[in-house]
Amino acid sequence: MNILGIETSCDETGVAVYHTDQGLLSHQLYTQAATHAEYGGVVPELASRDHVRKLPWLIKDALKEAGIEAGDLDGVAYTRGPGLVGALLVGISTARGLAAGLGIPALGVHHLEGHLLAPMLADNAPEFPFVALLVSGGHSQFIEVLGVGRYRLLGGTIDDATGEAFDKVAKLLDLPYPGGPHLAKLAQQGDPRRFKMTRPMVDRPGLDLSFSGLKTQALVQAKKLAVQGHVRGQDAADLAAAFEYTVAETLFVKCRRALEETGLKRLVLAGGVAANLRLRERLSQLDAELFYPPLAYCTDNGAMIAYAGAQRIQAGQSDAAYPEPRPRWPLEELSHV
Ligand code: KG4
Ligand code: ZN
Repeated sequence: MNILGIETSCDETGVAVYHTDQGLLSHQLYTQAATHAEYGGVVPELASRDHVRKLPWLIKDALKEAGIEAGDLDGVAYTRGPGLVGALLVGISTARGLAAGLGIPALGVHHLEGHLLAPMLADNAPEFPFVALLVSGGHSQFIEVLGVGRYRLLGGTIDDATGEAFDKVAKLLDLPYPGGPHLAKLAQQGDPRRFKMTRPMVDRPGLDLSFSGLKTQALVQAKKLAVQGHVRGQDAADLAAAFEYTVAETLFVKCRRALEETGLKRLVLAGGVAANLRLRERLSQLDAELFYPPLAYCTDNGAMIAYAGAQRIQAGQSDAAYPEPRPRWPLEELSHV
């Protein structure tokens, strides 16, 4: 089966074709980062308009790259939520229009299920069950994954998402949006031990996370270091390194606990922050097998939606009536384990 995947939940337009036997046939991505950079964050209306402009061309390119025609498609999967409602509507309408025109099933996919299953696109894919740490711009959760659609939430952030904290601290350091990758790059030149930061919530039981206190620690330090309102040079690099180091140490402790609590030995790191190399390196020291998606499929993309959709469409699922977008959509609603 050839499944087209469409991702438009936020500021990335992603389209891919996944073949249920041959694997990923194509992958096209357009990032709107430059559009939103001058505002320091995503402007929803601009995001929707950009998706409208780019999506049809990306679909054309994805089909061409896969070497197939629209008529060769067997299903269309799209991100139904969570995300920005206007942006989601662009993907939903396009996907459903295309599927209706071709007489094939359409299926709304949960964006986080896409992230959770993205490691399946790697050569070294994990087997079920595994513990997943999902860390993106909007989410930070520990999930026990028993199979496709069988998820148990173990804990999550009580305030900021991990990627959001990266982005906010990056903003303090005058780094461009989205700040996570820029902060990580700057941190490479920094000394993570110059500024001591406390690891949030590690001495509390459970698997909940919190990043707003850590963000405040960075803010307090930045104020001390600022010259004419800006932190520069080695100071900025050292602060970036201290923040990144503390996040990695905190997540290390929590991942160890998640593995102990579930008795599992496989850990999957997913979501945009899974691109962070220091975090990968630290988590590889756990007594568990570590899996993560190929770098290109860590941040938002169409391949993960095509893959997740393919699993469900192959199992006979499709949209019932016209589905509403789900800007807020708890992952647990997908399954009762
Ligand atoms: O999964 P994603 O593309 O979008 C959401 O669903 O949120 O994640 C984007 C987030 C942003 O906050 C971005 O700054 C962060 O992932 N991110 C990183 C890195 N690459 C992306 N954070 C830290 N280090 C990175 N290398
Ligand atoms: Zn995402």
